[in-house]
Amino acid sequence: MVISETELLKDAFSEFARASDSIINYYNVLETQIRLLKEEVEKKNRELERAKEYLHNILDSVPMGIVVLDQKSISFINKAAERLDSNRIIDSFNGSTDKSGVVKNGRGYYRWKKDMLQNGFKGKEVLIIEDVTEFEKMKERLDRDERLKAMGEMAARIAHEIKNPLGSMVLFLSMLSDGKLRKKDKKYVEYIRFGIQTIDRIINNILSYTRPKTLALKKEKITKVIEDILEFMMPSILSRNIDINYRVEYHGTSFFDPDMMKLVLMNFFSNAMDAIKGRGLIKIDVREEQGYIVIVINDNGIGMDDDTRKNIFNPFFTTKDKGVGLGLFIVHNIVHAHKGYIEVESQEGVGTTFFVYLPKERQQ
Ligand SMILES: Nc1ncnc2c1ncn2[C@@H]1O[C@H](COP(=O)(O)OP(=O)(O)OP(=O)(O)O)[C@@H](O)[C@H]1O
Ligand SMILES: [Mg+2]
Repeated sequence: MVISETELLKDAFSEFARASDSIINYYNVLETQIRLLKEEVEKKNRELERAKEYLHNILDSVPMGIVVLDQKSISFINKAAERLDSNRIIDSFNGSTDKSGVVKNGRGYYRWKKDMLQNGFKGKEVLIIEDVTEFEKMKERLDRDERLKAMGEMAARIAHEIKNPLGSMVLFLSMLSDGKLRKKDKKYVEYIRFGIQTIDRIINNILSYTRPKTLALKKEKITKVIEDILEFMMPSILSRNIDINYRVEYHGTSFFDPDMMKLVLMNFFSNAMDAIKGRGLIKIDVREEQGYIVIVINDNGIGMDDDTRKNIFNPFFTTKDKGVGLGLFIVHNIVHAHKGYIEVESQEGVGTTFFVYLPKERQQ
């Protein structure tokens, strides 16, 4: 039997129709699968975004600064690191081969530690920065207290040792002047007596400020003392073109020795005035902080380098031609006797801030 061409064509067409039907079916199945896969990928992407957000939230709530560096530029930074002004910290150790250390910027001390990331994150470093300002300041304060105590004890011992022979010298001198002396020699005796009196006065000064003081505590307003001193010093402040910005947040009373605190404030103010060359500004703030009255004395004078700042409370440390270097030593002893403490922040060419903490309540 011969199949006609028409039949063949018909068969071919129906074959073609079947094939194209199944292609369309396949296409539909594929399209559904692709749509499902796309949805799956989108879902996973959303989950990843959520996980990233979750991780960033956790990292942002950590009090330590966390920075991820990719070839020395920042690829992630958490909130704490932003607050710590970490760019400046990163600049100061970028290029260093150390793995950890402590850096100081104008505001405080920061301990840092860096590590290379592993497993597919090669070339990236994670940097942890911790604000250790409070800890470092306390350490510095304790070191200072100990050092000054030892220096004070030594000064007191030397002063005592000098006082004894000085007493004998006065005695022999009076015996000498009782006898018959030529007019000229009597004058010499008087010179020696004057010299001895001067030494005695200096020694008494050292002894009274280095020995633990018995304070005449009174319940008063520290603002009254500050205002008295400012009034007293105003003529010389004005003559030097210095402006005063005085702000009081705490108006209450506390226990302190007013005469001693006058001495403290006078020393701070005269140091601030010395530090200002030309026009300048001294800011004084009085506030309250966790059981303490805080007197803040800030000047925009020459400031200090780190080495100077560490030594300023030592007796006889001075950078001034006519300075004695006893001012801040006496200040430290007085504040210490009040069971208070002093902190200092300073930057060369910017200025200096002293924070005097005095306990509000009477201390045992
Ligand atoms: N506000 C300040 N700004 C810059 N440097 C300061 C400031 N206060 C103190 N200093 C530094 O501290 C040093 C010690 O101060 P301190 O008051 O003990 O002694 P002095 O002022 O040099 O002498 P004196 O015994 O006459 O007070 C100063 O010589 C100065 O270098
Ligand atoms: Mg001084």
